[in-house]
Amino acid sequence: MPAPPPLRLPKLRFPLDTPRLRLRLPRPGDAATIARWFRDRGVTRPIGIWSDYTLEDAEEFVRRARTRFRRGEGLQLVVILRGDGRLIGGVGLTELNPLKLEAHIGYWIGREHWAHGYAREAASAVLDLAFRRVRLHRAHTGVFPFNPRSAAVLRRLGFVEEGRERRSYRIGARWVDSIRFGLLADEFRPYAPDRARRKG
Ligand SMILES: CC(C)(COP(=O)(O)OP(=O)(O)OC[C@H]1O[C@@H](n2cnc3c(N)ncnc32)[C@H](O)[C@@H]1OP(=O)(O)O)[C@@H](O)C(=O)NCCC(=O)NCCS
Repeated sequence: MPAPPPLRLPKLRFPLDTPRLRLRLPRPGDAATIARWFRDRGVTRPIGIWSDYTLEDAEEFVRRARTRFRRGEGLQLVVILRGDGRLIGGVGLTELNPLKLEAHIGYWIGREHWAHGYAREAASAVLDLAFRRVRLHRAHTGVFPFNPRSAAVLRRLGFVEEGRERRSYRIGARWVDSIRFGLLADEFRPYAPDRARRKG
């Protein structure tokens, strides 16, 4: 069977605004802020970064994100608080698979801003784009067992646990499992502000 043509992102316009957030492409000037948030291992370990994260790593991340977006290969956006313009996180849609019409979603929020619903709001905007504009059929991601917060974000968006990749990531001398989550387009439950969080 001939390989299908690569799945490319359609022409997308940014920034993308949600009730409280602005999602936009990272700029070189964002690297220092990203590197600062990534000093926190509570942010980097759950996304599979085990070593120290430097300013140069962040600069390289920004360069790559911009190149990949230009080529239509994937999306890495930064999350900005619309209220004060601060960069508080990131959200990405990568590993576009033309056969399965699926992609991987990833996200992080700086610890100071956890528990305001920002991850769900940002991920929801990117999933909306993935299903309505890119016309994907599925989204997927993996969560470590020590990350119940992320599992909660995913479940609220409609993701379903689909299995466990046993001892699939190495942390130092240890192997850890990764729990697979998947979301079909018609299962997606977009973010809607909670009553108690409306002011946030
Ligand atoms: C996971 C992460 C993105 C969540 O960000 P956030 O903005 O705090 O997420 P939200 O506020 O949208 O939702 C957090 C959910 O976790 C729940 N939660 C918080 N602490 C929890 C805990 N200890 N156990 C279980 N659920 C918990 C909250 O109740 C909330 O669920 P709800 O909306 O149903 O009430 C953030 O903690 C983070 O960046 N962690 C490091 C990077 C990471 O894990 N990325 C994802 C990799 S798969």
